[in-house]
Amino acid sequence: MTQALFVSDTDRLAEPLEYLPEAVPRPVLVVVSGLPGTGKSYFCRRLAERLPSVILESDALRKVLFSSPSYSQAESARLFRAIRLLVGRLLAGGISVIVDATNLTERYRGYFYSVADRRGVKLILARIEAPPEVVRKRMEARQANAEERSDASWEVYQKMKDSVEIIGRRHYVADTSRDIAPVIDRIIREADRQK
Ligand SMILES: Nc1ncnc2c1ncn2[C@@H]1O[C@H](COP(=O)(O)OP(=O)(O)OP(=O)(O)O)[C@@H](O)[C@H]1O
Ligand SMILES: [Mg+2]
Repeated sequence: MTQALFVSDTDRLAEPLEYLPEAVPRPVLVVVSGLPGTGKSYFCRRLAERLPSVILESDALRKVLFSSPSYSQAESARLFRAIRLLVGRLLAGGISVIVDATNLTERYRGYFYSVADRRGVKLILARIEAPPEVVRKRMEARQANAEERSDASWEVYQKMKDSVEIIGRRHYVADTSRDIAPVIDRIIREADRQK
């Protein structure tokens, strides 16, 4: 019996995906963008309750590839390359994908624009935000909760806020300190128009 000598990063990321929804003819790609603590993961989970899809959360996937992450540029480059390939693979298989990562710059988002454009898949973008005071309070609460997966802190938020770039394409905006149901409804309607 031959044994695989080399398992790609993308295979390693795909392996722990627990639940795959039924394939559809026209899957969509949702990409969120937002600073740490703005509620991206919360938003993605709420959206996934209504949109059969797989959430690819960069922090969780980083730990699949790197058991003690350094958050270096080289590490992120390798991680996001594998994520992009996995997104393409899932979309090709008829699975809608939600990418849960900060995606603050047009360059990083651009890789996902290309994946969607190349495959002729509907791309839905959402900027996730919350007032800084709300984020700071959430960060404090999160420090006390060991179960939360994200590693970002208020210090990281402050460092990253200068790198935020305006999203160059049409996008939704969700403020998670308010009711996000109306935005989720609009996104679901747009995704449904694909069918
Ligand atoms: N609408 C909300 N109502 C109440 N709590 C919320 C809401 N949105 C987010 N939170 C809480 O705020 C904290 C940060 O939210 P979340 O983990 O979704 O942020 P994030 O943008 O994914 O952060 P990171 O970039 O660090 O992963 C969490 O404890 C989450 O439960
Ligand atoms: Mg998160």
